[in-house]
Amino acid sequence: MCGIVGYVGHRQALEVVLAGLHRLEYRGYDSAGVAVLDGPGGLAVERKAGRLANLETRLDEVGRDRLAGTAGMGHTRWATHGPPVDRNAHPHRDAVGGLAVVHNGIIENFARLRAELEADGVEMASDTDTETVAHLTARAYQEGETAGDLPACVRAVCRRLEGAFTLVFCHADEPDQVVAARRSSPLVVGVGDGETFLASDVAAFIEHTRDAVELGQDQVVVITREGYQVTDFHGQPVETAPFRVNWDLSAAEKGGHDYFMLKEIQEQPAAVESTLRGHFAGGRIVLDEQRLADQDLRDVDKVFVVACGTAYHSGLVAKYAIEHWTRLPVECELASEFRYRDPVLDRDTLVVAISQSGETADTLEAVRHAREQKARVLAICNTNGAQIPRESDAVLYTHAGPEIGVAATKTFLAQIVANYLVGLALAQARGTKYPDEVAREFHELEAMPAAVQHTLGTVPQVRALGRELADSKAVLFLGRHVGFPVALEGALKLKELAYMHAEGFAAGELKHGPIALIEDGLPVVIVMPSPKGRAVLHSKLLSNINEIQARGARTIVIAEEGDGTVKPFADHLIEVPAVPTLMQPLVSSVPLQVLAAEIARCRGYDVDKPRNLAKSVTVE
Ligand code: AGP
Repeated sequence: MCGIVGYVGHRQALEVVLAGLHRLEYRGYDSAGVAVLDGPGGLAVERKAGRLANLETRLDEVGRDRLAGTAGMGHTRWATHGPPVDRNAHPHRDAVGGLAVVHNGIIENFARLRAELEADGVEMASDTDTETVAHLTARAYQEGETAGDLPACVRAVCRRLEGAFTLVFCHADEPDQVVAARRSSPLVVGVGDGETFLASDVAAFIEHTRDAVELGQDQVVVITREGYQVTDFHGQPVETAPFRVNWDLSAAEKGGHDYFMLKEIQEQPAAVESTLRGHFAGGRIVLDEQRLADQDLRDVDKVFVVACGTAYHSGLVAKYAIEHWTRLPVECELASEFRYRDPVLDRDTLVVAISQSGETADTLEAVRHAREQKARVLAICNTNGAQIPRESDAVLYTHAGPEIGVAATKTFLAQIVANYLVGLALAQARGTKYPDEVAREFHELEAMPAAVQHTLGTVPQVRALGRELADSKAVLFLGRHVGFPVALEGALKLKELAYMHAEGFAAGELKHGPIALIEDGLPVVIVMPSPKGRAVLHSKLLSNINEIQARGARTIVIAEEGDGTVKPFADHLIEVPAVPTLMQPLVSSVPLQVLAAEIARCRGYDVDKPRNLAKSVTVE
């Protein structure tokens, strides 16, 4: 949710931290702040509500040399406790300003801790849960058995905290170290030469080092110029797992595009290709990271897919494929609803948890619930070593590369592909598809990067359409079969980016109510199936278009190239390449992403950072 950066080294910490925050701003942009240590007793803090640019203006006003020093930290906030105003911006300090802390997550028992502090006469300067941690840690530093030992204070305080948190601390009396703690929120250490980094995401330090260390659950790390030491919350040293980041700075930059989302849309052929790479060998689907044996897959008698937002839509697409290939029942469930309705789970249930970030709290809790009920959990994730894959029985990584735009695009396509790989692996293990059929489906997937690339040829046409539709009040999206989740995804993109009322419907449902929404000139996007693949669906959708056109709707039809039958019904026709039915979402989603981005741009909105949102949602 929030973005965190920490640094101890030989450079000016302020500049390192600000550059890192720029790369993490996708995690939250309600406020930003920095703290820099400058020799014994020197701890300077600046923070400002709003985007990082506001903080930079503030720093220019006060003079950046006021924050000289080679150790420090920074934060970019997605507000949970208290509105996004200066006083709630991180870092938060203790009463005398000797200690500063930044935080990602939620301290669930903060009300009790706050009451305890207030009863002792502490005056709170903010509405946040974080500030309680600043006072508790400062107090532990002043008195008792942890006095003067910052890591010990952090461990002691963390043992009292409930909830999910990454916390980073600077203390004026400890100018050469930054201390951090992690429970259920991300934190990575970057190891450089004479410098060490901390961040919510490797993107923050990728320009300096690709050598990283993922922190585990309930661990505290101390970083210094010389390196890092990790312990558990009781001070016991723990083993860490260093890794090398397999992408570089260019992947986290716009590369000449106006915004990240447009770049990421263009990267979709590569995302699909990389996600498929290495997963077919010797005539078989190979999911080497999945850690589930064929026998485990044979034992499965039901599949649940749990996810949120766009990832959930990828799961809805997968339901059609997995049921078709395996004859197993597949239930697709919003992760936020899953554990609250007592789903029927046992050791023969496979739960597929899909999450780009691997941090989404709703999905993580669904995973935990499923595992408590003895179900096997397979995570599909785009972020190496994130919490969801760590807590799952198995993982299949999508290799879409970093996605900075808050709206998911390339990871959606990569998730669909990964879901299909799981479906094919199940079909292979269970024998519901012959090996040559599995191979054929895989080869159809292999043809998709070229098909998606071809679809990108529609971008100029779709952008022009976006400019025409920019003043619309609402847009409806219709589809059938796999086109239905595509319609839902198209509507979600438009809502989150253009702040426009948008709804996706199964086209067959229209006559059961939503058709009342149709009025003169209302844009309706229709995702057509192939006339060859599912002829019956195609003709039914043609009837649906007829019905809405007759009521004055402006029809925007996404149809297969050469589908002549649809032309008379389309006020605007966007042609995508002919692909097998189950592959259609991989091409038909692309124009909808571009449409939403262009409408948002025309309306003057920040395409990469839509209001009220953050890239990863680490609160329930
Ligand atoms: C997509 O455009 C959204 N920003 C959002 O719906 C997202 O897909 C959802 O929050 C799930 O995130 P995850 O994949 O990181 O779990």
